[in-house]
Amino acid sequence: MSQASREPRRLVVFGVTGQLGQEFLDELDDTEWSISELVGVASSESAGTDFDFRGLDGDVTAEWPPLKGYDLVVICTRGVSALEIVRDALKAEVPCLDLTGALATQTEVPLLFAQNLEGEGASAVAVAPLLAMPSATALATSRILTALQTIGSVVRAQGTVLSSAATHGRKGVLALSQQSIALFNQTEEPLTGPAGQAVAFDVIPGGGVDVPRVRGELGRWLVEGTAVDFTNIQVPTFVGEGISLALEFAEPVDATALVSSLELGEGLIWIADGIGSRGLAPVEEDGPEPVGPTLRDAAGSGDVLVGRLEPDETREAGISWRLWLSFDPIRLSASHATRIAGVRLGLS
Ligand SMILES: NC(=O)c1ccc[n+]([C@@H]2O[C@H](COP(=O)([O-])OP(=O)(O)OC[C@H]3O[C@@H](n4cnc5c(N)ncnc54)[C@H](OP(=O)(O)O)[C@@H]3O)[C@@H](O)[C@H]2O)c1
Repeated sequence: MSQASREPRRLVVFGVTGQLGQEFLDELDDTEWSISELVGVASSESAGTDFDFRGLDGDVTAEWPPLKGYDLVVICTRGVSALEIVRDALKAEVPCLDLTGALATQTEVPLLFAQNLEGEGASAVAVAPLLAMPSATALATSRILTALQTIGSVVRAQGTVLSSAATHGRKGVLALSQQSIALFNQTEEPLTGPAGQAVAFDVIPGGGVDVPRVRGELGRWLVEGTAVDFTNIQVPTFVGEGISLALEFAEPVDATALVSSLELGEGLIWIADGIGSRGLAPVEEDGPEPVGPTLRDAAGSGDVLVGRLEPDETREAGISWRLWLSFDPIRLSASHATRIAGVRLGLS
């Protein structure tokens, strides 16, 4: 380990009390990086509360600290302009990693998919003043498309994204819980919550992830010749995200080659049909075994679970296939953010 990588680092995390902020701290916890100071910022609602990092309590502050002298600012906020934090970081000449999507369309800011963290990409990351991370939907899709590059050219990918309440932050999860209880008890009208309408026991077409953002992010990453689009649906689950992904290839590919490429793909776990990865037992002894991967199967994993390979029977054999992906968007994002932070800080 070099002298520079042994030097303790000082970090500021905005949004430390949120779902992503907490998960990012967990990921940092698992590294062996020497971190001498971690300032956790949240809204005035959380001022005076604590956050846990490596077994020690830190005070949550609602006062934005002077950023000069810190090694990295990480933005995991919601409901506050991330660009104001970015401006402060630029003024203080401290590198800033945005996880909110606020910088995703600014072409002068590197948008960091896995491929941009290697070779020349890593050298650029090491000096860039601002860094942007793609949404979890774009990250998951990019892993699939990267893996499939080994067997053929995907000319079109069309995804139907199923988003949980966690897409709307901690308050989204709380709203789903309160709405569900209210409906069960038939006590009061369901509360609206941050989704803008009640989500419990309902499915909202057009709800959930920000499709123009995902399309724009993948547009910056994809090579010419691949078209990608999504439709979004909010479903009444608490956590996780699923995508039913229809793929069209330039030339027919066979199922065995497709599965092999996905089995080898970085950050992917292929789940063969037949068993749920949670090991659920069939309801009837002789009945079919439950199949996955479900959103709960993926909870807590930084990988993308992929399965349910099906041919599109309306097309020429081998040209068009459907896949099902399930992942934990918060864990996936936190783990990728930690990887970016490691490259920026010269620690990995
Ligand atoms: N949820 C996901 O699946 C996911 C995945 C990847 C990226 N993201 C992005 O990550 C960001 C956070 O998402 P989340 O799900 O973690 O949201 P969240 O649970 O609602 O957390 C939001 C965080 O922002 C803080 N905050 C709000 N106003 C603030 C202010 N004025 N100053 C400082 N901090 C403030 C909140 O503090 P309080 O606790 O005091 O309110 C909280 O810590 C969003 O931009 C989201 O798009 C989310």
